[in-house]
Amino acid sequence: MRVTGATVIITGAGSGIGRALAVEFAANGAKVVCTGRRTERLEQTVDLIRNDGGTALAVSADVTERNQVENLVTKTLEAFERVDVVFNNAGRFNCIAGVHELDPADWWQDVKVNLLGALLVIRQVLPLMIQRDQGVIINMNGGRPVGGTGYACGKAGLMELTEILAKELKMLKSNVIVLSAGPGLVRTEMTELQANTEAGRKWIPSTKECLESGNVGKPEEIAKATIKALLRVKPQHSGQYFGPDFSSFQ
Ligand SMILES: NC(=O)c1ccc[n+]([C@@H]2O[C@H](COP(=O)([O-])OP(=O)(O)OC[C@H]3O[C@@H](n4cnc5c(N)ncnc54)[C@H](OP(=O)(O)O)[C@@H]3O)[C@@H](O)[C@H]2O)c1
Repeated sequence: MRVTGATVIITGAGSGIGRALAVEFAANGAKVVCTGRRTERLEQTVDLIRNDGGTALAVSADVTERNQVENLVTKTLEAFERVDVVFNNAGRFNCIAGVHELDPADWWQDVKVNLLGALLVIRQVLPLMIQRDQGVIINMNGGRPVGGTGYACGKAGLMELTEILAKELKMLKSNVIVLSAGPGLVRTEMTELQANTEAGRKWIPSTKECLESGNVGKPEEIAKATIKALLRVKPQHSGQYFGPDFSSFQ
């Protein structure tokens, strides 16, 4: 695929891996639409890109809200006329608790952001991509830790969505590509929450250990490896998972 000149929507672009992806896509000549709920964070990402001579736009949206996702795509088309790449990077892992004790509303929100959020964005751009017979959708996968069943169920569902969508696109003889990506363990707000809360330390002690030992990836490294991998991607890779270092397709 071509990155230079492509219009790329990145969800969760105000922090962590999403911000690094936005900066790296822009450094490679893409026009980047940064989305997430916290407008100030998105503006910071856009400033980083523009200060480096890149092209970016911030459109705040909660990916679980259909009307906000519709607005996101409308604003993208107004600014850049098409959508070439969608990176469903937004994720939520706030419900860290055993099944016997968890808050179902909090659990459901983890499922919703990781699964419904990606679905709504895909649903909004897919008809356009199918019509042009072109486009790449990347869904950010994640681990399946104990004490994190909401997150795990959301990500497992997202993996299924990716694989089945790839089969649907094949049936439609479409060249649109859908991929799953996994970054491995990276120091971000999400993993800091695991390391710095009692529940996180109880259920996922390995996160704190890895963060302390420095045995974790950096968002910028993940972003660079992602672009490198995407430059090689072809329609026959659709439905595949790449990671954890984004260097190879499986
Ligand atoms: N860090 C790791 O070790 C690791 C490992 C495996 C997978 N991942 C995956 O990588 C992705 C990025 O996570 P990260 O580690 O970079 O953590 P992060 O910094 O916490 O990023 C999560 C992003 O998702 C956005 N988000 C959350 N709820 C949203 C909603 N309802 N609508 C729109 N955006 C929403 C957040 O922005 P707002 O709060 O502004 O909305 C935030 O920018 C996630 O999908 C995560 O599951 C991370």
